[in-house]
Amino acid sequence: MTDAGSSLTRTIARQYDLFQTSLESLHKDRKFLNYGYSVSGTETFEARQQRLCLEVFQAAEIGKDDVIIDVGFGSGEQDFLLSNAYEFRHLMGFNISERQVRYANERAIRENLIHKLSFRLGEAERLSGVEGSSVDRVLAIECAFYFDRPRFYERAAQVLKPGGLVVLADIAFADRASFLARRAEDLRRVGTQSSNRAAWEKHFRTRSVRGINEHTRPGAQMAVWQIFETVPRSRLSAAERREWMKMGFYSQLVALGLQVSFIQYDLIVLQKV
Ligand SMILES: C[S@@+](CC[C@H](N)C(=O)[O-])C[C@H]1O[C@@H](n2cnc3c(N)ncnc32)[C@H](O)[C@@H]1O
Repeated sequence: MTDAGSSLTRTIARQYDLFQTSLESLHKDRKFLNYGYSVSGTETFEARQQRLCLEVFQAAEIGKDDVIIDVGFGSGEQDFLLSNAYEFRHLMGFNISERQVRYANERAIRENLIHKLSFRLGEAERLSGVEGSSVDRVLAIECAFYFDRPRFYERAAQVLKPGGLVVLADIAFADRASFLARRAEDLRRVGTQSSNRAAWEKHFRTRSVRGINEHTRPGAQMAVWQIFETVPRSRLSAAERREWMKMGFYSQLVALGLQVSFIQYDLIVLQKV
């Protein structure tokens, strides 16, 4: 990585490199990596994942001249979706997974979208090379719980123009489960609803926080079933298999946490004043 981060960040980057390798070798058509937004309960998993992204885009009120940053973009699937659904000036993606960045850039070249979409290797907390007050929207779909949040909120506020928005589909511990958020560095990064809010309100006005547990829990459970059904039968490397099984295990905890409201999934809109 050029934008070297903590050892936790490097571990997460390696994990997503392996996920990307698997998604490519399994020839997965739409390469989202989120729990989706369920409405009827009969949709395919991919339709739910796409819907979560569309909910974020709608909340972001994207305009045709907007310069957008998308952090933690996964394979970039959401940004190709955005470029089909909305007009905007330019989108810059930042991701710590080298493999995901390479895949997204190659796809942008293949689809003749490189003038519109560019993907960079780098941390959301740094947004290296982005000038202050130059960006209209920052999007973060199901990834901010990996970030050093105080640094991310501060940097997002620097690069945004006054009035600009940060829109997150975000997972945090409910305040009553705050004891869990103190246990280890990765859980501390998840944070609690109150601690995260206190951190972002140093830089932003909160425009809205919409709880979407009932829309995200079914997809979290589906992710678990899909992982435990597919991975043992797939021809993946031992390292890939291990990461997926870990993801299956954590996703089961998330699904249970959402059900008993120990975990909160929110759609959050913040405005730079
Ligand atoms: C759960 S995936 C979500 C992917 C995508 N947003 C989606 O909805 O399909 C989390 C993503 O965040 C990225 N990520 C984790 N920590 C990051 C950081 N500090 N800076 C930028 N990206 C990060 C991972 O590499 C991965 O692509």
